[in-house]
Amino acid sequence: MNPDGRFGGFGGCYAPETLIAPLEQLESTWHAARSDPAFLAELDTALATFAGRPTPLHHAARLSRELGCELWLKREDLLHTGAHKINNAIGQCLLARRMGKRRIVAETGAGQHGVATAAACAHLGLECVVYMGVVDAERQRPNVLRMELLGARVERVTAGQQTLKDAVNAALRDWAGDPIGTHYCLGSALGPHPFPSIVASFHEVIGREARAQWNTVGTRAAGRLPDVVVACVGGGSNAIGIFRAFLDEPSVALVGVEAGGRGIASGEHAARFAGGSPGVLHGTRTYLLQDSQGQIRPTHSVSAGLDYPAVGPEHAALHESGRARYVTATDGEALDAFERLARSEGILPALESAHAIGWIVREAPSLRGQRVLVNLSGRGDKDLDTVARLRAGAPA
Ligand SMILES: Cc1ncc(COP(=O)(O)O)c(C=O)c1O
Repeated sequence: MNPDGRFGGFGGCYAPETLIAPLEQLESTWHAARSDPAFLAELDTALATFAGRPTPLHHAARLSRELGCELWLKREDLLHTGAHKINNAIGQCLLARRMGKRRIVAETGAGQHGVATAAACAHLGLECVVYMGVVDAERQRPNVLRMELLGARVERVTAGQQTLKDAVNAALRDWAGDPIGTHYCLGSALGPHPFPSIVASFHEVIGREARAQWNTVGTRAAGRLPDVVVACVGGGSNAIGIFRAFLDEPSVALVGVEAGGRGIASGEHAARFAGGSPGVLHGTRTYLLQDSQGQIRPTHSVSAGLDYPAVGPEHAALHESGRARYVTATDGEALDAFERLARSEGILPALESAHAIGWIVREAPSLRGQRVLVNLSGRGDKDLDTVARLRAGAPA
């Protein structure tokens, strides 16, 4: 990354004037905090005793046998509140407190970032408002109740497609109305600089732990790096969190799995690389789903957390440089993978994470004999209603 927040030709800070001062304050606070042993100790303690780090690295022995590759799962699903999102939520709430801000706003799609932020706010005694599209609030109902029980106010967004993009718009508008007293705790490696870098840095712990664990989990993995690292990509925070530990290892292939929805040809998906082009959304230049006039195209995914028209700018740069490869899994492949992991390994993954498993299942013939590390970003409890409806034959 350049000092101005650019990753190659992507990223940057395309923000309204009212937000420039709070973005600069956030950047300088983050720089100071990163080298402050007291901040780092507080973060480490919260991650260990509140969030539940380190998460284990699990050898998926039965599924490995079925697929013919060696599959290892980084168990972010075991974290408090059910997904990797808590790493960033705790980090940003600690930064907010350092800036003297006592009110936090957040956007959420799947509800996981909203729940994580609500929990972090309760833990630190901060006020919390979460914006969520009405469609997402309906399909992730248990998470709405969780946020409310944790003391957050959930604002249902009725604009646009009533999903994640519209929730981001509403949160940005709220922040612009009170940039001094409020911090916007953005939930993915997206948005204007410095958010993509801050969010990625709070998730680097995933890759750091996984790499250290990889060398100690047993003789089968020791001494050789994974051949492939796989993660699902919504905004891209869990993926960048695990990828960064392997960026300088050319022997390790990095694969990001986007939501292929009902298939690329149908136009009903959230595959920004397969179906999009560069443009600016929510303060950053990146790959987007847009029409020829630059209007944002509607997205579709069975998984609320992947249902967003833009991808984090660092992924756009990794795509253009060829260092990472971006692929898709459809709604159907994700649902099959959800059931397959449940039966083979006793683990119900989030539908987001099931996209990563779905790609591995589809590509198993070309992965034969390889060591595959997958970031299992979250658990599937929030998706049980959706899975039940789909199993009963409802459309995704
Ligand atoms: C469990 C889980 N995984 C992945 C994602 C996608 O986000 P990101 O690409 O930022 O990791 C979400 C988003 O809500 C999620 O809840």
